[in-house]
Amino acid sequence: MSDVAKLSIGEHELELPVIVGTENEQGLDISKLRGMTGIITLDEGFVNTGSTQSAITFLDGEKGILRYRGYAIEEICKKCDFIDSTLLLLNGELPSDEQRETFRQAVISDMQLPEGMVKLISAFPREAHPMAMLAACVNALSTHHQDQVDPLDAQQVQNSTQRLIATLPTIAAYIHRHRTGQEFVAPNAELGYVENFLTMMFADEQGHYEVDSDFVDALNLLLIVHLDHEQNCSTSTVRVVGSANTNLYASIAAGVCALWGPLHGGANEACVNMLSQIAEDDGDVAKYVGMAKDKQDGFRLMGFGHRVYKNYDPRARIIKSACDVLLEKLDLDDPLFEIAQALEKVALEDEYFVARKLYPNVDFYSGVIYRAIGIPVELFTVLFAMGRLPGWIAHWQELHASPSKRICRPRQVYTGPELREL
Ligand code: CMC
Repeated sequence: MSDVAKLSIGEHELELPVIVGTENEQGLDISKLRGMTGIITLDEGFVNTGSTQSAITFLDGEKGILRYRGYAIEEICKKCDFIDSTLLLLNGELPSDEQRETFRQAVISDMQLPEGMVKLISAFPREAHPMAMLAACVNALSTHHQDQVDPLDAQQVQNSTQRLIATLPTIAAYIHRHRTGQEFVAPNAELGYVENFLTMMFADEQGHYEVDSDFVDALNLLLIVHLDHEQNCSTSTVRVVGSANTNLYASIAAGVCALWGPLHGGANEACVNMLSQIAEDDGDVAKYVGMAKDKQDGFRLMGFGHRVYKNYDPRARIIKSACDVLLEKLDLDDPLFEIAQALEKVALEDEYFVARKLYPNVDFYSGVIYRAIGIPVELFTVLFAMGRLPGWIAHWQELHASPSKRICRPRQVYTGPELREL
């Protein structure tokens, strides 16, 4: 294909540049279209719109490929932990031993929350949703670190990056302890990142908790598969908010809010609730597949379908095999895992799902692992946010480093009344 596209609109004959990516993806650059013709493009839901060029994550939805910085997700899951993968995403390369250790120590020593944050969490109604608390906490962090809110100051961005990665597990665990009426357990500088999170979540009031290495491995894996997924709804939100030169804390808080929706990250919670409902309904999988196909019903199979994947989501494949391994090791028989597998089988053989290329996505099996670890269902999307955080930050930083950065400001085609008199 040539590197220009010819477009003919009315009396205009235009040549528009075609931008070609490293994996041969092609994007028509229409940024001058309105200036030259007065016409804009219209693409509700951004189904066909590229908002940026990005060097972070490659995904091919037709082939079911996902790579971070060029490395296949399957290989990263086998060879890296969450801290390695975070540094890969942020810096573009895997860390040296020294870089990994420096970052790990810096993060672990920053996990403690300011007293005001602890009070803030304690003040939330216990029954409130954890994602509402998380979004409020992330935004409130900036009030305790007012010397870290200049998005154009590299040192401040580095400090806020580190602070967010360090404190998100503490916030998540404290939200859980507050909701369940337990005393908070302080982070422990002797423990690793994931070990700290599990201990702050599950330790008794004296701080005792035996960390299970199978849980650490499973959680590392889940955090890694959630790390980044290029221009998804929450990441695009973070970039849009960041494009106004909004500080990192506030941009990330906006990402948390976007992630909460059940069509996005909130699908993991919705999916387990759906599986529980099917279990209570005598495991009648066919009934729910029927409901999902019925356009009058409005019900959708949660954890199924994806805007970009028209093939099995590679993350779902990784998580499904991790479920098998973990449940067998723990000698656990989770009825919801059985139902999920039965549902997948029925759906994947059904003409409706086949024709629309609907497959299980990342949220379909993740809940099985969270449940095995003992994480309550309302906290699932908070765990998604913990995993996605470095991805959001990498995109926010990439946006600010780009010489072509401009405030994100889409246009519209107005369809309201013409001028009328009062
Ligand atoms: N159950 C039943 N039908 C579905 C489903 C589903 N889960 N997903 C899509 N469809 C149908 C949809 O009704 C439409 O049918 P038709 O062509 O007859 O009108 C067709 O498939 C295309 O769907 P769409 O809504 O146009 O697709 P989209 O790209 O706008 O939406 C989606 C993608 C993920 C929001 C959607 O598949 C969905 O609602 N899935 C359930 C929620 C979910 O699992 N979300 C997590 C996504 S992955 C992780 C993440 O992003 O955080």
